[in-house]
Amino acid sequence: MNATSEKKGYALITGATGGLGKAFVFETAERGYDLILTGRSEEKLRVLKAETQAKYSALDIRVYAADLSSLDDRKSLYAGIERDGLKISLLVNVAGADIQKGLMEYTQEKIAFQTRVNFEAAVSTCRFAIENKAKKLHIVNISSVSGIYPMPYFAIYSATKGALTSFSTALREEMKGKGVFVTAILPGAMPTREDVKEQIQGQGLWGRLAAKSPQSVARASLNAVAKNKRKVVVGFWNKVMRVSTAWLPTSWRLRFIAKRWSKISKDAF
Ligand SMILES: NC(=O)c1ccc[n+]([C@@H]2O[C@H](COP(=O)([O-])OP(=O)(O)OC[C@H]3O[C@@H](n4cnc5c(N)ncnc54)[C@H](OP(=O)(O)O)[C@@H]3O)[C@@H](O)[C@H]2O)c1
Repeated sequence: MNATSEKKGYALITGATGGLGKAFVFETAERGYDLILTGRSEEKLRVLKAETQAKYSALDIRVYAADLSSLDDRKSLYAGIERDGLKISLLVNVAGADIQKGLMEYTQEKIAFQTRVNFEAAVSTCRFAIENKAKKLHIVNISSVSGIYPMPYFAIYSATKGALTSFSTALREEMKGKGVFVTAILPGAMPTREDVKEQIQGQGLWGRLAAKSPQSVARASLNAVAKNKRKVVVGFWNKVMRVSTAWLPTSWRLRFIAKRWSKISKDAF
């Protein structure tokens, strides 16, 4: 669909400046949504706005910089959107921090940062968007297949994503009959940043088979919105992996994951 042919209302996209966020920006623009974009960096947002506006000149694009781990920044973001009188038709919670290490390698600050960005901020934006919704609102929360099972050495990420999936599913039920629809998206690996690309390559054939491009994940997510799906694991091989490992004893799964992930350590980007 061409952006100029049918306007859909405003889509609020968090983490808009990242790999998957940017894919959502272009996919939603293509489908005719006006855009409210947020990320931490004013400069990245300015460049993204210019790039998107050059392609979709008919769309209204607003940008607001905010660190979603900060309650004050979230309040300023919400105040800005309210001041500008924007009502939200689609919320896509993309922002996330994939810090990966054992618990004892974390500082207290990093624990707060990751749990706030991955879970608390997403819950908070849901509350804000519901209060400021257009006639109808669809919420898309970007979780992860990493949230399906507990993951030693990726435990906080995995727990926050599991919590986000659980929250989305429950909220969907709470919102029944209220014009609010909620979809949790569980992608596997996506080649977004360079370190993620290297990690996928390092996983050999399996890594390459299971990885999906950010564009295809954004498209699958918006197709899931159109069908009002509750939860979607993206990609054939990720679905196969989920079903085929479900019968394994938990202790085996934990040992396998611990062996694999204990070799990797990365901080926030
Ligand atoms: N890539 C994968 O393999 C993969 C797999 C499954 C799920 N996911 C999930 O998909 C989402 C996007 O991943 P990605 O690979 O596109 O990551 P990315 O390229 O690193 O982008 C992350 C985005 O989140 C924003 N962000 C990070 N911390 C923030 C904070 N404190 N406040 C506000 N915004 C913040 C970043 O904005 P600024 O840097 O501009 O602040 C950026 O726009 C994440 O939720 C991730 O957990 C990713």
